[in-house]
Amino acid sequence: MAANGERSELQTVLRELARGLEKGVALARIYNDPEIFEAEKERIFARTYGYLAHESEIPNPGDYVVRYIADDSFIVIRDAQGQIRVLFNACSHRGMPLCRAERGRATSFVCPYHGWTFNSAGELIGVPAEQEGYGGRLDRSAWGLKPAPRVEIYDGLIFACLDPDAPSLREYLGGMAWYLDLLTKRSAAGLEVIGAPHRWVIDTNWKLPAENFISDAYHTLMTHHTMVELGLAPPDPKFAMYGFHVQAGEGHGLGIIGPPPHISLPPYWGYPEEIVRSLQQNYPSAAHVEVARRTNFLHGTIFPNLSILNVMLLKDPGSPPTPMLTVRLWRPLSPEKTEVWSWFLVERDAPSWFKDLSYQTYVHTFGTSGVFEQDDAEVWCGITRAARGKMARRFWLNLQLGMHLRPDPTWPGPGTAYPLDYAEANERAFLRAWCRYMLEERPKASRRRSSRRRS
Ligand code: FES
Ligand SMILES: [Fe+2]
Repeated sequence: MAANGERSELQTVLRELARGLEKGVALARIYNDPEIFEAEKERIFARTYGYLAHESEIPNPGDYVVRYIADDSFIVIRDAQGQIRVLFNACSHRGMPLCRAERGRATSFVCPYHGWTFNSAGELIGVPAEQEGYGGRLDRSAWGLKPAPRVEIYDGLIFACLDPDAPSLREYLGGMAWYLDLLTKRSAAGLEVIGAPHRWVIDTNWKLPAENFISDAYHTLMTHHTMVELGLAPPDPKFAMYGFHVQAGEGHGLGIIGPPPHISLPPYWGYPEEIVRSLQQNYPSAAHVEVARRTNFLHGTIFPNLSILNVMLLKDPGSPPTPMLTVRLWRPLSPEKTEVWSWFLVERDAPSWFKDLSYQTYVHTFGTSGVFEQDDAEVWCGITRAARGKMARRFWLNLQLGMHLRPDPTWPGPGTAYPLDYAEANERAFLRAWCRYMLEERPKASRRRSSRRRS
């Protein structure tokens, strides 16, 4: 009875929030509420695609990394035949976590509890005292490691989904795939991850950074003002306003920022000429080349918690403006704790001097101790703290930035593009998608798939 009551109170809050979003307001309590957080694990993270790794992190047979979707741990491994597998990191005997290293190379995994042994494809290949203990009746083929229900790879980016009825990753990404191509298809050689992902824990709710990256160019004029003063960003505190705010559909979105009208910045993010020539040949359309030509900063989020950032910054005053690409996952640990996973990526065939400079630029700006990173974390932690109390349960936040803007009909990419990146349209769209999942309404593509199964 109590559980039903709690559930209906949650549904009431969600419906109230969905109505509020139409007016451009959101309830602060969603950023720090244990009940909402538990529901998110079931309704968001168990039904959407979670990013795990990039193929280049496991180049050889037996290479593995251990990654997470919310609380669930997976071994992401290239098996002996070269196929990428995502295996639940729990022994099929009694559930002991099998792999306790974060990365490595292995032909098999031996469970530390009773010694069951699994190969790189997850097959059960060894059972101590099998004859005596099981009398020859154990069906090894039924007791391999459990694979993630859906595993899909987009240009080297490995995703998994715990919902077997989820749409394909391509359907799930929708229009966002077009924009992802701007990052992943600059070179025929593709991207590679340099180094291990940086990881750290922030005292924030996971949605705040996800929303910041999908939408919030506005904060740069205040939060990152000192970066402008230090000369690490273009010399105009409002530089992040000049661009397009793009809703890519299904809760995904991004901002694409070009040079302010009065400041000259290099085209194509300032990439070296080898990469510019390469993207001109490799992009799937002329529209991609045109959008890239006018881009210096690109920020976005793939719903729910994978953010992308491809920006031209200076590693320190006096250095040349240098583009760098990072993807970062906001792994939810609790209503007010998030583990950040941040990968640096670069074109595999980029000149080595550029790889070094781009990596240093990443470390100085958005690495664990990066100057931008520190500014942002301070704000997200503060909002999370403020959302903890009783006042916050009825405290409505303003998400009305840019509501006066009209879409630009000439925008060459998919989705809806507003001709200014000072907008919160993406934040509203993100939270509308969040509400749909939380109310357990299936996305359209998934509904089609379920009905095909039934018929
Ligand atoms: S729990 Fe792994 S062998 Fe028993
Ligand atoms: Fe920021």
